[in-house]
Amino acid sequence: MTARVLVTGGAGYIGSVVVDQLLDQGCHVVVIDDLSSGHRAAVDARAAFAQGSIGDRALVESLLARERVDAVIHLAAFALVAESVANPEKYRANNVTAARVLLDAALRAHVRCFVFSSSCAVYGHPAIVPITEDTPQRPVNPYGETKRDFERVLTEYTADRGMTAVSLRYFNAAGATDRRGEDHDPETHLIPNVLAAAAGQRAAVPVFGTDYETADGTAVRDYIHVADIADAHVRALELAQDGDAARGSHIALNLGTGTGHSVRQVVEVARRVTGAAVPAQEQPRRPGDPPALVAAVGRARAVLGWRPTRSSLEDILKTAWDWYRAHPHGYRS
Ligand SMILES: NC(=O)c1ccc[n+]([C@@H]2O[C@H](COP(=O)([O-])OP(=O)(O)OC[C@H]3O[C@@H](n4cnc5c(N)ncnc54)[C@H](O)[C@@H]3O)[C@@H](O)[C@H]2O)c1
Repeated sequence: MTARVLVTGGAGYIGSVVVDQLLDQGCHVVVIDDLSSGHRAAVDARAAFAQGSIGDRALVESLLARERVDAVIHLAAFALVAESVANPEKYRANNVTAARVLLDAALRAHVRCFVFSSSCAVYGHPAIVPITEDTPQRPVNPYGETKRDFERVLTEYTADRGMTAVSLRYFNAAGATDRRGEDHDPETHLIPNVLAAAAGQRAAVPVFGTDYETADGTAVRDYIHVADIADAHVRALELAQDGDAARGSHIALNLGTGTGHSVRQVVEVARRVTGAAVPAQEQPRRPGDPPALVAAVGRARAVLGWRPTRSSLEDILKTAWDWYRAHPHGYRS
């Protein structure tokens, strides 16, 4: 592929893997990241790097022009649900207002494709699972609202402006590649916390809620390997670049496996993969946690020809465990 791509949030967990795959496909890649939660060491040396915010109009404009960017993959965002509840304004300012500055600049620079990291959080607590893209969007926290709202901005702005936008609604990103893994502080995701308990870096993994109406009483989620997510971005970019029929449109696609796993199942597989005890501590439900979130995945398959190939729970835990052991202190290791 010959695209010249600006990747926002390319120093983050998912963005760094997207950058690796784009570079491997022959793209010219420019990363903009303010390092608020990302790591400079996570960005491949073949990519150009600018430290700064997507809300800095002058910086974004100069990058788009200087690097002759023709596509934007926009992953930069704040992504902690609890923090979004405590400080919704911080989330609106970054995930919607600053993102709009980026989109405006991209439109002025005649960028033709825009791929956006959306989330299953746009759906809230849907009554019907698996969740299709046509499920009504009723987010239950400010984080999910910002993702829904920016998707709406994309629908409005791209119509008749010659830009094709693809929103990828990830379910639960997990796993690692041999070069990149998850290094968040605080870490709120289940799998890194399970592995920290396996390694003895935390006393136990909390299991929030054991009385859900699920097979074993714990919450069920759809875990999707970060490398499969990155592959979908490469395909979305190809679609947006080549699909003349799609020009000027905005399409949203779920990225998941279509299979849910409970917290207890994750802990069980982690015990097998690590050979460690993985102590678990049962706690009450967290307010706002739905019982089950599982993607209907037919649309991404039909539109992108995408199928997850690395997302069995075993592979996810094994790759995450390999990365964890090689980087016990994340990118500082
Ligand atoms: N991890 C998941 O399971 C998941 C699920 C659904 C959606 N998402 C979305 O995917 C994207 C990436 O998630 P992640 O898990 O890799 O998170 P992450 O925190 O590791 O990556 C986000 C990156 O964006 C950067 N950033 C934040 N605000 C910025 C700004 N204003 N300007 C420049 N850079 C900025 C951060 O420094 C970080 O490197 C986010 O948009 C997130 O909402 C993630």
